[in-house]
Amino acid sequence: MQIKKYLYSFTYDNTERELSKLESRSIFKQEDKNKLLFSDVKIAPSYSAFIKNRLAVILFSGDYASLIEAIKKENICIDGFKVEYIVIEGDTTKYKQRLEKLKDIGFSIDGEPDYYQPTTTYALCHYEGIWVFGILVKDKFAWQKHQQKPCSYSNSIHINIAKALVNIAGNANQEKTVLDACCGAGTILLEACFAGRKIEGCDINWKLCRDARRNLAHFHYTATVYRSDIKDITKSYDAAIIDLPYNLLSKATNQDIQHIIAAAASIANRLVIVSTSDITDIIKNIDFHLSDYCVVRKKGNLKFVRKIWVCEKIEQVFT
Ligand SMILES: C[S@@+](CC[C@H](N)C(=O)[O-])C[C@H]1O[C@@H](n2cnc3c(N)ncnc32)[C@H](O)[C@@H]1O
Repeated sequence: MQIKKYLYSFTYDNTERELSKLESRSIFKQEDKNKLLFSDVKIAPSYSAFIKNRLAVILFSGDYASLIEAIKKENICIDGFKVEYIVIEGDTTKYKQRLEKLKDIGFSIDGEPDYYQPTTTYALCHYEGIWVFGILVKDKFAWQKHQQKPCSYSNSIHINIAKALVNIAGNANQEKTVLDACCGAGTILLEACFAGRKIEGCDINWKLCRDARRNLAHFHYTATVYRSDIKDITKSYDAAIIDLPYNLLSKATNQDIQHIIAAAASIANRLVIVSTSDITDIIKNIDFHLSDYCVVRKKGNLKFVRKIWVCEKIEQVFT
């Protein structure tokens, strides 16, 4: 097994499984295995709804005693530290042994521990026969505050999907510029701003633009929201997210959908489209190719299916 810089643990239910895997393919170019993933790519756990924690690997060894010796040699000196044991699927270490191992590590670090408000949390886990020691960062779910945004609608996208769309659009690259082409009340904009992304929004409906701006201001985020038909946006972006209109609140004909997708395709190289219907033919007509795809079912209403389409501009080759 190849040890990388970071070990990520995931959490998702059956309705989100496919979306989490699509998000991982976009960020890490690989999927988790048993809700674990080793990667050299660094991302804050709070940027994804599905990443529970990240262990930054300091040391690893197939032999436990050698690992403890190596930790001692690191001469770690820190006040307020805590050590946790991460139980990974397949790890048969008993509770009592786990406590012993935490003590071993605690005694290998100089400084006063703090179990309640640690400055640094170290962790140990046993993964596929290897003992891994590192610094643990947990998702504290600070982004859940967005659930209390002042303006919300029944067709606002679920916050977990919004976070995934931001990651899928920008890969793991904070520098990528993204347009939320049908931003509505700004659910996706909030998650992008939380993650420090370069995003702007656009919506044809002035009331929704007003509400998106109110939501952004409420959390002290700054992102430009254009009150505009997407066809009138001339600025270019690396990627566009399109949460297509689909119900009575935001009615749209097939022609409207084609028009929105074609307009976004003319100003972005990568499209992440959310639809409730099959848009394969529309994608074919805009010189983009479908690079990834998944479906997301609604919790509590499994018949309601959202389709997520990731499309890339087909590079024109001139001879
Ligand atoms: C499904 S809603 C988006 C919801 C949004 N993601 C949220 O979570 O609040 C689709 C949005 O597309 C907007 N829309 C429809 N046609 C548009 C167009 N031609 N240009 C820009 N926005 C458009 C609608 O006003 C509506 O707000």
